[in-house]
Parts: sequence; C-alpha cells; structure tokens
Amino acid sequence: MNFIPYGKQNISDDDINEVIKVLKSPFITTGPKAKEFEDALSLYCGSKYTVVVSNGTAALHLSSLVLLEKDDKVLTTPNSFLATSNSILYVGAKPVFVDICENGNIDLDLCEKELIKDKSIKAIYAVAFSGNPLNQNKLRYLKDKYNIKVLEDNAHAIGSSFEGIKSGSCVNSDISIFSFHPVKHITTGEGGAITTNNKDIYEKLLLLRSHGMKLDTSIAPWHYDMSELGFNYRITDIQCALGISQLKRLDLFIKRRKEIVLKYEKEFLDFEGIKPLYKFNENSSYHLYVLRIDFEMFKISKKDFVLNLRELNVGCQYHYIPINKQPFYKNLGYGTESTPYMDEYYKSTISIPMYYSLSDEEQNYVIKSIKDILCQN
Ligand SMILES: Cc1ncc(COP(=O)(O)O)c(C=O)c1O
Repeated sequence: MNFIPYGKQNISDDDINEVIKVLKSPFITTGPKAKEFEDALSLYCGSKYTVVVSNGTAALHLSSLVLLEKDDKVLTTPNSFLATSNSILYVGAKPVFVDICENGNIDLDLCEKELIKDKSIKAIYAVAFSGNPLNQNKLRYLKDKYNIKVLEDNAHAIGSSFEGIKSGSCVNSDISIFSFHPVKHITTGEGGAITTNNKDIYEKLLLLRSHGMKLDTSIAPWHYDMSELGFNYRITDIQCALGISQLKRLDLFIKRRKEIVLKYEKEFLDFEGIKPLYKFNENSSYHLYVLRIDFEMFKISKKDFVLNLRELNVGCQYHYIPINKQPFYKNLGYGTESTPYMDEYYKSTISIPMYYSLSDEEQNYVIKSIKDILCQN
C-alpha cells in the first residue's frame, strides 16, 4: 500500500483549467478573481463581507489588529494550531487558556466562569475543532452578557453549521476566519479568508491587507495615502481561481467525508478501548477524524502506535500538542493552567486519515492496521 497521509487535497482538471485561464490573463495578483472568490464565500457562508488573504494565520493576525488592543486578555483554547493564540500575541494582547470539553472544543461554560472572575477579559477566540461547530447560543449569550468580542476560528469548519447557522456567517461573532491550506476542505495552496457582517471591520481589513494604503483618485489617478501600518497579506488571482473552483465541490467533499466517518464509526464505536472523539454529528464538516485510544489498556505508548502505523504506511497526526505547554509559551509563564480535560485528551487522541479521495480500500487498510497494531500485544 502506498503511503496514506492523514489529509490531502483533491485537484480536478476543472481546477487546473481555471488556474491556467488566470495565468494566461493580464492579471495574476489580487484582482477580479479575488473579488469573485470573496463574493462566492460570502454567498456560501451567509456573511455580508469576506476578505481573502494569503493564509489563515494572516487572517487571524489582521483580525486581532481589528478586534484587540495591547494588553487585552483573550480567552482561547489550548487545543488548536499555534496560529490561533499566536495571533493574540502578535498585537501585544494576552491569551488566557481555558480547558476543553468532551468534543475537543473550548468549554464555553468554563469561559463564563473566567468572565465572572475577571471583568477585564475582552474577547474569546474559539475554534470549531475538527469541524465540529461552536455552540452559537452560548457564543451569543457570552457576547451579549459580558460585552466581549468573539472570533470564530473556523479553519477546520467551513461547511459546518449549528442549528441552521452556517460557520462563517458571523451571526453571533464579530469575525470568523478560514484556512485554505491543502489539508483543509478546500485549498488555494496557501490561503485564508475573514468573514464579517460589520462594514467598519471589513473596510479596515481591506486597508490592512495591503500596507494600510488607499488610492485617492480625487487627487490624481496614481495617488495613494497610507493611514494605517498595514501588511502585504494579499492572495493572488491564481490562487483564487483555484479557490472558486474548489468551493463548487465543497459540499461534495463534505458528503464523502461523512461517509468515511460513518464507516470509521461502525468499526470503532463498539471496539473496546477505542472511541470516536464524538458521535456522528451531521452538522460537523469533519476536517479531522479523531480517535480516543486507551493506550494503557492496549499496552502500547502513543508514540509507538504512531511509529508502527507509519511503518505500515499509514499517516496520522497529533491534533494538538497543547499550545500553553509549548516552550515559547512556557517562557512567557504559561503551562500551569488547570486543564485536566486537555491533558487527558492529549494523552489519548490521534487523528487518522480523513480526506475526500480516501478510497474504500485505503480506509479498510487503515482500520485493519489500527486494529492489528493495538491487538498485537
Ligand atoms: C485551527 C487553525 N487555525 C489557524 C490555522 C492557520 O492557517 P494557515 O495554515 O492557513 O495559516 C490553522 C492551520 O492549520 C488551524 O488549523
């Protein structure tokens, strides 16, 4: 069996043709395709505005510049990619790590306890982990009751929804972000997007994406003014052509991911010592499929399990190493927060292959390999 990664992109001939068309056109940097991609994303998610950028981390950085001030305290999860809380640090604000709940998402009830304890907390950065949507009722409640900013990191969750509210629609948040890294549902190679319903936020994001400058044609056709310290976080039309084409197949991608989930669930739900992170959720977009494994019961360490799987050409991944326990964060004084669920979660979980083009044969091989390794001792 060839190597089966934990995630990978699917590029069709149509995708390639759309990219070629842009390459043959006069415009290859941020231009008409970027705007078309933004409009298509707004339509898909139900947001008023979308700003596409060079990657999900840039989306988070720009969002933090818009939402936060220096020294603001921000509740966030240890169970995410580094970029979520790094983006809080980029603007001199302070992440406050809150434990997760059973499904891997930040525990919003614990967030409320923090908000009651510390009135100076200004925001929540919540991640819809693995594609499992955030509880929108709780986000709305916290936002209104404690007057805080809410950012939804939906890097895993494009296409998911909570009680009919689509991820990225920002019905109960100020901003939502996406990533289009190749392991995500749709890709632009590298890329990201920010959605919002707030016009001021939208306009500021546009400014910050490109050096904080704006053309002022009332002075001269070439005149530009810089009013903010911005960046070059632009994405190319080449990438956006790919994104537009990929977005057309997003629902198909998610449908196949759910089939894969149901098959994994059938194999693992009643297998002693293994359980899916959460029971099948029709509204999750399943970026990841995470298993909890009782490694002690199977008399194998998590590391050896991963190494043995790799020997059998099956890739898997840790999602995630707790951010607050990273050396950089420990140097800043983090790492001793009480996060018993996260600690337990980190010991027992592993993400197994999950992507649109995973064939039945490959999935059967993954399932057999996992069972063989765990049951050999
Ligand atoms: C939850 C989360 N947030 C943010 C990011 C950053 O996105 P990007 O890799 O596009 O910069 C990622 C990427 O892996 C992610 O998983």
